[in-house]
Amino acid sequence: MRDTIVNMVSHNSVKEQIEELRRELNYHNHKYYVENSPEISDFDFDAKMRLLQDLEAAHPEYADPDSPSSRVGSDITSEFHSVKHRYPMLSLSNTYSTEEAGEFIERIEREAEDEVAFVCELKFDGTAISLTYQHGRLLRAVTRGDGVQGDDVTANVRTIRSIPLQLTGEGYPDYFEIRGEILMPYASFDRINAEREAAGEQLFANPRNAAAGTLKQQQSAVVAKRGLDCVLYQIAGDELPYANHWENLQAAKSWGFKISDKMHICHSAKEVFDYIAYWDTARKELPFPTDGVVIKVNDFALRRTLGFTAKSPRWAVAYKFKAEQALTRLESISFQVGRTGAVTPVANLAPVQLAGTTVKRATLHNAEQIAALDLRIGDMVYVEKGGEIIPKITGSEPAERTTESQPFEFITLCPECGTPLVRYEGEAKHYCPNQSGCRPQILGRIIHFIRRKALDIDGLGSETVELLFENGLIRDIADLYDLRAIDLAVLPRLGDKSAENIIRSINRSRSIPFYRVLFGLGIRFVGETTAKHLAGFFRGIDALMVAEREELMQSEEVGEKIADSIIEYFADPINRTIIERLRKQGLQFEAEHRELHSSLLAGKNVVISGKFIDHTRDELKELIELHGGKNQSGVGANTDFIVAGENMGPAKLQKAQKLGIRILSEKEFIEMVADTPTLPIVEEPTNTALAQESTPVKEQVVVQGSLF
Ligand code: IVH
Repeated sequence: MRDTIVNMVSHNSVKEQIEELRRELNYHNHKYYVENSPEISDFDFDAKMRLLQDLEAAHPEYADPDSPSSRVGSDITSEFHSVKHRYPMLSLSNTYSTEEAGEFIERIEREAEDEVAFVCELKFDGTAISLTYQHGRLLRAVTRGDGVQGDDVTANVRTIRSIPLQLTGEGYPDYFEIRGEILMPYASFDRINAEREAAGEQLFANPRNAAAGTLKQQQSAVVAKRGLDCVLYQIAGDELPYANHWENLQAAKSWGFKISDKMHICHSAKEVFDYIAYWDTARKELPFPTDGVVIKVNDFALRRTLGFTAKSPRWAVAYKFKAEQALTRLESISFQVGRTGAVTPVANLAPVQLAGTTVKRATLHNAEQIAALDLRIGDMVYVEKGGEIIPKITGSEPAERTTESQPFEFITLCPECGTPLVRYEGEAKHYCPNQSGCRPQILGRIIHFIRRKALDIDGLGSETVELLFENGLIRDIADLYDLRAIDLAVLPRLGDKSAENIIRSINRSRSIPFYRVLFGLGIRFVGETTAKHLAGFFRGIDALMVAEREELMQSEEVGEKIADSIIEYFADPINRTIIERLRKQGLQFEAEHRELHSSLLAGKNVVISGKFIDHTRDELKELIELHGGKNQSGVGANTDFIVAGENMGPAKLQKAQKLGIRILSEKEFIEMVADTPTLPIVEEPTNTALAQESTPVKEQVVVQGSLF
């Protein structure tokens, strides 16, 4: 009896000790990572953490997934499941001119017929994240993805110390979402790149890529070491304490979130411009990257009246800062051969600091650009970092040119395989035509094929592809489907487990939808969006393979250049054989059957013509099909109606009038389909603040619910 009591007492005290340590460590985490004002030394923090870890290891009965010790992550390989956002994650409309920012403010003041409070914030340059909290605990973290659905990266996000796993304070709703930016501070970025350089690994191009790449790491223990940070800037949910953005974010701060302390309420265009001017310079001193200022209407009621366009809210705009410039010496020019054989000159520069990172290389695009900029080895050149990953050269300083410099001569032979380079008509780039014998082209095509956005064969990175190629196991994309786990397991750096993982993800890729397979084929100029358009228009590879130029050009975004490239691709017997082999392996070469939303337009032929304001032509076409209608490219006697945007072709208009065909505006058409009873609207409850913010009028609900 006495023993039992002693045990209970000591167990209670262990439990209390664990809880106390967790409380203390959470408190110091917050002080250090959120408030930037640590109260204890790293040494003391680590000692407390070790004590907690030891106690937890000895007493697994008190395990808690939200314990601060869980922040170190694990080395279990995790897969990311796709999760549909409860509400779409929209983007912001951008502007580079203060004039346009002023027009935005004016428009809103006019619509509000009153003075308006705008919240100005920094535009953080990282990767967007949506966090869901339930009963004060972090439930889920999802990336933006395509805006409709993203990847569940909760395990990785839990390791970011500035994100609370358990909320503090009072008054938080029982269930809410908070969105923000995962950032990689320059200090972490430089440290990681230095480590990667030492290990001979490829460097991250910029902190944004590094943040996004880290978030998709399969082992959360790796993420934990990368030093990510997170700033939250948008909150939504039932029963938010306030009816405006500012006060809700301040409340969120009191619950433990890291909210920017650089936000400011402005009441006039002048105040907004002052904020922009100040941060355009002051941001250079910040420890993390920013690329603009976001101007948001503060009041939720006004946001609701302003509403949304198809892609972005009408109550906010992003002003983007102009790119920063630096002057440095052009030391040499080297050449890279891509998967399509395109040869890209790359400038090697004397290292220079630009927008928080050290720049050593810049892209030069092609021979014409080198000539147009009149660049010579040894010149002092201006480098700029825009939205692109790699900085570009925008000019040179003639006064600094040395007398012995020589005009630059472009190469004539492929630097990889020695084949004479060619130039295609109307193309600025040089190409190596040796598609099936030039190493980077072969590897590039396979690496493109396995990409996430294409066949998403994970476990197979570029290094493994190279390894398989060197060992004679693959020469083209179809060879991937002949691989066996036993062939892989014997290779250096690959064990049984990774071999099996690779084979599993190759097998899984057989069900990847047609448009991604089409994108994965790597047809020159056929990017993700064009592949989507083509798949939607032709519905299968057979129709696409035999399509002629004019027919191809009826698909959205396909002009002569793309059409010719598609024809050229399918004319090559090597490509046709690869497609047949892939087809035999069970890959998808037909577009998926879609569930109809209604039969409102069954049997109706519809023509879309002109430019539209709230929707793309594709979105309208998809709506027509989802309601049972058929898209026609030209107006004819059997056309039932036309949806006309701005600048509808005069010939079409005349013909339509002659035939007495009904012409609907974009708005009328959207109202027509929105009135059908079976149309799916946003699935989740709608009486939340976010729903109030994001579902202001019927036509927009249609788009968000069915088209993204
Ligand atoms: S608000 C409806 N605020 O910019 C859009 N976004 O194009 C709500 N971003 O994907 C976003 N800083 O990743 C907002 N202070 C800020 C931001 C911000 C960066 C990013 C975000 C978003 C993109 C919008």
